[in-house]
Amino acid sequence: MSYHWIRIFENETELENYILPNVFFVFELRGEKICITRTDKGYFAVQDKCPHNGASLSKGFCSKENEIICPLHRYSFDLKSGKATSGGAFALKTYPIQIKPDGVYVGIKAKWWEA
Ligand code: FES
Repeated sequence: MSYHWIRIFENETELENYILPNVFFVFELRGEKICITRTDKGYFAVQDKCPHNGASLSKGFCSKENEIICPLHRYSFDLKSGKATSGGAFALKTYPIQIKPDGVYVGIKAKWWEA
């Protein structure tokens, strides 16, 4: 699987200062709205649009079980795997985050024709 790695911060300190615990921030990268947060289990990035009915997940909240809860109908999704933990068989697209010496990157899967 190949990724486009997009640098979103210069370094880890900038990441820590910007992405506050259990608060969601939306980045638009390569045309995709991506919701990024920090929990006690690490940093996570998932699609912002709820797969149930399109609400912005960044307006939801984190649970103690490392889930993101949709603000509209309260379906929940595991932040790491993206799998629904309530509300049906929906799943979120997840994005890897890499912290490197030269910056913090989010990976967006390359389309088959870009690989
Ligand atoms: S829009 Fe998210 S659970 Fe319905």
